[in-house]
Amino acid sequence: MIEFNRMSVVGNEEKYLLEALYSGKWCGRGPKTIELEKLAKQLCQVNHAFFVTSCSSALEIGTLLAKIGPGDEVIMPSFGFVSAANAIVTREGRPVFSDIDAKTWNTSLEFVEPLVTKKTKAIIPVHYGGSTAGIEELRSFCKEKRIFLIEDAAQSLGCRRDDKPIGSTPWVTCFSLHDTKNVSSGEGGFIMTDSDELALQIEIQIEKGTNRQKFFRGHVDKYTWVDRGSSYIASDLLAAVGLGQLEQLEKVTKKRRLICAKYREEIGDFGGKINWQFIPQGIETNGHVGAFHVDPKLRTKVIYEFKKVGVGAVFHYVSLHDSPFAKENGFAPAKDLIQTRNISEGLVRLPVFFSMTEQEIDEVISKARSILSTI
Ligand SMILES: Cc1ncc(COP(=O)(O)O)c(C=O)c1O
Repeated sequence: MIEFNRMSVVGNEEKYLLEALYSGKWCGRGPKTIELEKLAKQLCQVNHAFFVTSCSSALEIGTLLAKIGPGDEVIMPSFGFVSAANAIVTREGRPVFSDIDAKTWNTSLEFVEPLVTKKTKAIIPVHYGGSTAGIEELRSFCKEKRIFLIEDAAQSLGCRRDDKPIGSTPWVTCFSLHDTKNVSSGEGGFIMTDSDELALQIEIQIEKGTNRQKFFRGHVDKYTWVDRGSSYIASDLLAAVGLGQLEQLEKVTKKRRLICAKYREEIGDFGGKINWQFIPQGIETNGHVGAFHVDPKLRTKVIYEFKKVGVGAVFHYVSLHDSPFAKENGFAPAKDLIQTRNISEGLVRLPVFFSMTEQEIDEVISKARSILSTI
């Protein structure tokens, strides 16, 4: 079986984990966290990076920073992960689901602008498959309208735009280090910002709403409750694993990009039967997603056929606007989101992981070709 994802040790994870284990300090914000954050800042060319328990936590911190409260609206694509929607509703905000572009599979200003009302407080676009298509327009729009922008870059560590790494922002960018991502700490994530003011707030929010970090720096004589927050800090043991992985970001990204490029090139479009995400010029993704789109009527069969021949192909994301929770709570839009439905119901993700052998990659390709020629 070629599973969908297989984690592997790619560098100094074991060494760093042992160092952390015997350091006498397993909780968060220890030496490995400091090193991990330093490296993340350097790699993403951003002023502040905080290692937190997950991208879901980072998104929650984002909605705290945006001061989402009862009745506030936050626009996000329905073709995304449930974490962003949860981050909105836990603040009693209202998720407003936008459609996505049929080619880039990202939302864009074209879909977001008509949804903006006086209650719109924030926008949470997803960089699907590491593509930031549409983000520049959304950034200018948010700046002009004073809307808070939380970039859901869960899949996107290692992506570049105009030859610069993504992450840098005057608002916040959220990354995941979950086991399915290119580099991982098992569970984990980053929240990044270029804003010193937001960084000071994040420092409080991740410390359960206290000014404990100021206390540690000797700026106050005791620490106390100063704002909302929670326990978002991840253990130094996880930081140790994450550090070993992040140090190898370039190596891992290179391999994954090669796998995805080979899939596209050698599987092709099968005479228009399938298509791949369109990546605009200037964007370099990180090989996180090796996915094609097929007629939604055929998708279940295609995935079943892959499973039958030992290839762990999967689907995602199930449209959020169509979910039971969205419907029960009145978050489903009056008009269906046609492109979201089409992409979400027709997407097939192929296995992509660092330790894939040439033989495994070729096997996925030949099995894909044979399945697609019979449907
Ligand atoms: C777009 C997106 N956002 C958020 C998340 C949540 O990430 P985490 O598991 O680190 O909370 C995921 C997870 O796959 C995701 O794909």
